[in-house]
Amino acid sequence: MRTNYCGLIDQTYLEQTVTVKGWVHRRRDHGGVIFIDLRDREGLVQVVIDPDTPEAFKLADSSRNEYVLSITGLVRNRPEGTTNANLISGQIEILAKQIEILNEAVTPPFQIDDENLSENVRLTNRVVDLRRPSMQKNLRLRYQVAMGVRRYLDDQGFIDIETPMLTRSTPEGARDYLVPSRVHPGEFFALPQSPQLFKQLLMVSGFDRYYQITKCFRDEDLRADRQPEFTQIDLETSFLSENDIMDITEGMTTAIFKDVLNVELGTFPRMTFHEAMYLYGSDKPDLRVALKFTELTDVMKTEEFKVFRGAADMKNGRVVGLRIPNGATLSRKEIDDYTQFVGIYGAKGLAYIKVNDVSKANEEGLQSPIVKFLSEAALTTILEKTGAQNGDLIFFGADKAKVVNEAIGALRIKIGHEHGLDNGYFTPEWKPLWVVDFPMFEYDDEDGRYTAMHHPFTSPKVGHEDLMQTDPENCLARAYDMVLNGWEIGGGSIRIHRADLQEKVFAALNISEEEQQNKFGFLLDNLKYGAPPHGGLAFGLDRLVTLMAGADSIRDVIAFPKTQRAQCLLTNAPNAVDEKQLRELGLRLRQKVETPKEAS
Ligand code: AMO
Ligand code: AMP
Repeated sequence: MRTNYCGLIDQTYLEQTVTVKGWVHRRRDHGGVIFIDLRDREGLVQVVIDPDTPEAFKLADSSRNEYVLSITGLVRNRPEGTTNANLISGQIEILAKQIEILNEAVTPPFQIDDENLSENVRLTNRVVDLRRPSMQKNLRLRYQVAMGVRRYLDDQGFIDIETPMLTRSTPEGARDYLVPSRVHPGEFFALPQSPQLFKQLLMVSGFDRYYQITKCFRDEDLRADRQPEFTQIDLETSFLSENDIMDITEGMTTAIFKDVLNVELGTFPRMTFHEAMYLYGSDKPDLRVALKFTELTDVMKTEEFKVFRGAADMKNGRVVGLRIPNGATLSRKEIDDYTQFVGIYGAKGLAYIKVNDVSKANEEGLQSPIVKFLSEAALTTILEKTGAQNGDLIFFGADKAKVVNEAIGALRIKIGHEHGLDNGYFTPEWKPLWVVDFPMFEYDDEDGRYTAMHHPFTSPKVGHEDLMQTDPENCLARAYDMVLNGWEIGGGSIRIHRADLQEKVFAALNISEEEQQNKFGFLLDNLKYGAPPHGGLAFGLDRLVTLMAGADSIRDVIAFPKTQRAQCLLTNAPNAVDEKQLRELGLRLRQKVETPKEAS
């Protein structure tokens, strides 16, 4: 029987005989004495095997990395000068009396402590990859967060109710994963993009407070913070206002940070969507970076400089400045690199002014390729509005607002992270906030129509109902997002609980009555059975844990994630299926497709 976890044995066990079981992390031969670092989920312990115990010595000698061993021995102090302050077991070692090889292992594809592995290698060999201490730590942290969530919500009277995985499409704005039905050839289930409609229906059924930690499926372009299959902490309540829901979920977040990381998040500031876009060009501003946009659109409406004037006069155009304190030290090369960087977001250039002498709003005091194109009045206004000081640099973005917001918004974060700490405009702390007063609709240029900014079940702000028809751009929603360090970690809304209003919103979204009945008939019908006012929110668990773990990608907090190309390299899914399975499902492939597999 195991008596202890390797990683937890310390000096309190001195002189005791222990039995540990684990993997050979490292084996060193020190001229006659063998050292094995044995690893289990709690960490490492050093085992010394002396030739005086010939049986054990022989087995230790034949052990290789990742062999599974059972070792019994005596805990003793390590000799002076060989202690390791980074390990709980760093003061002690085990003098082996008995060793048993429980299993051998072939040579692993990489050293467990190799930190320079490509992600493809790691994901292909995920089982071994998960042995790495950082992955063990991340998945444990994830568990602690999930447990914290359950404890908190249970205390608040929420109950966990499961909702189906095989269901109808729910529109959260992504493509569906479809599952063909064998029993009904030619018909398909969709995997849920979220439990949205079911949780609303549970409110109509009277459950009052629901939650679930559940998988959601969205076939969308993947990024560092997106997976096709991800986990939501999903909740819904009846009879509460948006403030109540924000209080409950903010309380949950602060409790988890306190429990798991011992961090006090404090009270979250609230910012309107409008203010966030105006100041940061983003609806999920990273408030660790203190840089803000300066609005210059109006100033440029009377200037000759075509780049700025053109954008200022454009419908939905915008011109902004971004003041970088001490930015005048940026080199030509750095500025060129930033110019290339904003190009990724569609910016056609990146004008700048270096401020040498703020009292001279002309070519004497300012160094820039564009100063000669701007009036002294405009330059004075720019310096005043940005609050520029000698030694600063001001970047400019001029284009459609969408391009400016994305390009200069991304530049703000990049420069903030690269130069902010040294120059006092980056605070390495947790910066949560609520973004509120989202618009109901956003215009989809490609489709040429309005779509729901959150989802079509979100209630308009009280008094904004008529704007849906008369002025959709200015119709606000009762929606709120929780943002942390520039990531949207949760979003929710007060829902529509009256069928007539829901029909109006569908109409504003150009969903015909026939389509409404066809797709959402079950919702509309059930709203008529006395639906209570209700609302909720869903957190992205993977994102929350990624931030808490300090990981770079959500793939590092998911045991078996998909690649950027939506494949599982461990199992090689998705994969072709045989003809018989297709026939049973009533399917025929339009063409034989070779699925391009990820190069490993
Ligand atoms: P929403 O679509 O905003 O809202 O999703 C809620 C949260 O889920 C996370 N998230 C993702 N995480 C990883 N990979 C993805 N592909 C992904 N997509 C979303 C984000 C996001 O904030 N039903 C509504 C919630 C509600 O209104 O109650 C919904 O799903 O952190
Ligand atoms: P140009 O007249 O195109 O040579 O541009 C003059 C300066 O304005 C250069 O520094 C460009 O990088 C910059 N610039 C060009 N287009 C834009 C834009 N859309 N937004 C910001 N700066 C721009």
